[in-house]
Amino acid sequence: MSTRDTRPGSTGGADVPGPLYGGPDDDYTPEQLAAMSREDLDRLGAHYDGVEILHVDPGPAPGSTMEKRAVRQVGLVFALAGVFAFLFVVVYVGSGWFLPDWHWQITENGWSALFTPLLGLTMGLAMGLVGIGLVLFTKKLLPHETAVQDKHDGSHFDRVTAGATLVGGFHNSGLARRKLITRSLGFMAAGLGLMLIMPLGGLIKNPNKGNPLGTTEWAKGVRLVRNDGTPIRPGDQQPGSLETVFPAVPGGNRQADAATMLIRLRPEQVESLTPRQGQADFAFGEYVAYSKICTHAGCPVSLYEQETSRILCPCHQSQFDVTQGAKPVFGPATRPLPQLPLELDDEGYFVASSDYIEAVGPTYWNRERI
Ligand code: FES
Repeated sequence: MSTRDTRPGSTGGADVPGPLYGGPDDDYTPEQLAAMSREDLDRLGAHYDGVEILHVDPGPAPGSTMEKRAVRQVGLVFALAGVFAFLFVVVYVGSGWFLPDWHWQITENGWSALFTPLLGLTMGLAMGLVGIGLVLFTKKLLPHETAVQDKHDGSHFDRVTAGATLVGGFHNSGLARRKLITRSLGFMAAGLGLMLIMPLGGLIKNPNKGNPLGTTEWAKGVRLVRNDGTPIRPGDQQPGSLETVFPAVPGGNRQADAATMLIRLRPEQVESLTPRQGQADFAFGEYVAYSKICTHAGCPVSLYEQETSRILCPCHQSQFDVTQGAKPVFGPATRPLPQLPLELDDEGYFVASSDYIEAVGPTYWNRERI
């Protein structure tokens, strides 16, 4: 079966110039080029580009049942992409406005737990449907050619004929007459545009109040509890031991930035205790408490070597001396682990005297506070 293209605007796979064109050395003035139709320029450009068309599938005939069905499918997919893009916008801006304030909170569940997944789901479906729509449009409605083409030097001739080829591509796409697709494309583009600029609105409508990166759930009177919620009294730990504790607030054991190491020093360690300036009363007797978040890159530090009084971070081997205010003595960390001030409540359990007085974790975002 022949694959020669007989449509207007194609060279038809001919490897010799047609009667309109004399040969590759012919000159065409700008006036001559301006006088030619788009189809003629398209053919001329293809010929001078040395295009060899290997295979041609003209796509569905205009007005055919096959074309109408494909247009409906593509239009539906693009419209659905727009619907999900608008749903993303509704979820994003509606929270706390015409919908309940359901921004995701670490201490909550129910609807608030669905906020982020719904954003991801609606955005993912919108973007996925855009991709599916484009694939369907390309496969079902565009003419398909397999061609081989030489590169050229960008002369006026090349620019004019290349422009005609681009216009010809739009013409062949049939977008100008396939109104259902252009309308659904417009709807989809509006939804996607809104969806993509919505996160910028987060800079204005910031759900995080106060200074969330500089503070934790610790506060004066908040008990230190183990992962299972049990409080701790002096004497519960053996000298030289370390326990990970959390603030006794709802969901406190899921607050990553509040994780703290409570250490009971041995008597000889207490003698050599050298607190940081202004933090002399942060320890309680032989107990000290330090942030568990490494100040280098945020890994949880937890390897405690009581013989050397050092806490080790497993990620890049930073070491902190617990008798010297947890100052770094080895490795890439440059800042001490923040110390939590301790006291006892009326029932004799450990509580914090205040939040950490400096930001926990890596130093890149709180450099000026060091
Ligand atoms: S994160 Fe602790 S040493 Fe790098």
